[in-house]
Amino acid sequence: MTPDSGERAAALLSALGCRGPAVVARAPGRANLLGEHTDYNGLPVLPFAIERDVLVAGCAATDGEIAVASTDARHPPRRYQAAGRIAPFPAGDWGNYAKASTQALLDAGVTLPPGGLALRVDGTIPVAAGVSSSSALVVALALAQLALAGVSLDPLALAELLARGERYVGVLSGGMDQAAILLGRPGHVLRLDFFPLRCRPVPVPAEAAFVVAHSLEDAAKSGRARGLYNQRVVECRLACAVLAERLQRPLEHLGEVPSGDVLDLLPDVRSRAEVMEDARLTDAEFARLVPATVTLADPDHFVLRRRVRHVLGEAARVVQAERALAAGDLPAVGRLLDASHASGAVDYESSTPAADALVGIAREGGALGARLMGAGFGGAVLALVERERTDALLATLDDRFYGPRGTGPQARFVAAPSAGASVARVDCPEGLC
Ligand code: GLA
Repeated sequence: MTPDSGERAAALLSALGCRGPAVVARAPGRANLLGEHTDYNGLPVLPFAIERDVLVAGCAATDGEIAVASTDARHPPRRYQAAGRIAPFPAGDWGNYAKASTQALLDAGVTLPPGGLALRVDGTIPVAAGVSSSSALVVALALAQLALAGVSLDPLALAELLARGERYVGVLSGGMDQAAILLGRPGHVLRLDFFPLRCRPVPVPAEAAFVVAHSLEDAAKSGRARGLYNQRVVECRLACAVLAERLQRPLEHLGEVPSGDVLDLLPDVRSRAEVMEDARLTDAEFARLVPATVTLADPDHFVLRRRVRHVLGEAARVVQAERALAAGDLPAVGRLLDASHASGAVDYESSTPAADALVGIAREGGALGARLMGAGFGGAVLALVERERTDALLATLDDRFYGPRGTGPQARFVAAPSAGASVARVDCPEGLC
């Protein structure tokens, strides 16, 4: 914990007024150097945990419910029973992230204290900015509940459990965010592979610095971005089903596609009926890939070839970036970031005019490369810059992007690869016990 988080934790504990042992969990946000929309396709990513974080303080209660409160006025207090299948709050309610964490723990067989729990949240991660404030919330809440239940889980297993668990909120998200948040290591990006989750820390050359800059358009996973994100996930699943049929071999995800040129085997745009015919899918098989309960941007229009071109190209860029980092070749990493942004914008259609403008200004301001990060459809850009040129880059962003839009420097920050999540016991908060 940093001195700042120590003070925030003390304030949370004091507001909770725990009469017995308490816990404080901390989960950072994450940035992603490279590897966008690859995780749910079983292909690698290179994210890192950042310093901004979510803190959750908690202690046992007596009324049998989980009560969650926040220092953020946009997040009113919520309560629920932790048993069986927990019915969600209305879509978009922040309390669903708490329910997602509890449901995941119940599904894993964790027994929570029968008297209930009081939990209080404070966060410094910008919300809906593509730096995983929501996954950090889920991870911090889960760590607090586990600690209060006296259970500890292996971080890799917990990352997989919470990645599945967060889909409770209706987003078909992959496993990058929870893993980066739990496994982050100072001075390193993480090479993550999936199905099963594996992690290899990759040192970042000392002269590299990262700037996270918000495009000023929110990418709320609980809002408009949800249908667009889910659409991309099911397009990849359907493209994979078409390739399985064309190649006459079982394929669970695009990461299993054999190397070689498969793009010519794919049509570009298909209706639901056309894609079912191409992949020879029954209604039940289609429903397994495209669950009827999931919100899509357009349920009868699936882009296949361009999506796969992005995903396979992005996976190759991750491998190249890992090598370039090992060789200390930052300009090469920068070029890969630029290529990733272009691919995301053109083939994945996940960028926005504001993000494109911000990326362009970042490059002109001295970044070695820049790209929209996270799910996209708004949110933040990541720029790679030589450490000594960081201030010049920030000044250019302020002059040319934030100033004309009437926003101050709070919309951008320097993000250093940082430690992952942790939880601590506080045996006697403020001497009350
Ligand atoms: C979101 C999801 C991740 C990942 C990224 C895109 O952050 O939660 O699992 O798919 O988008 O790379």
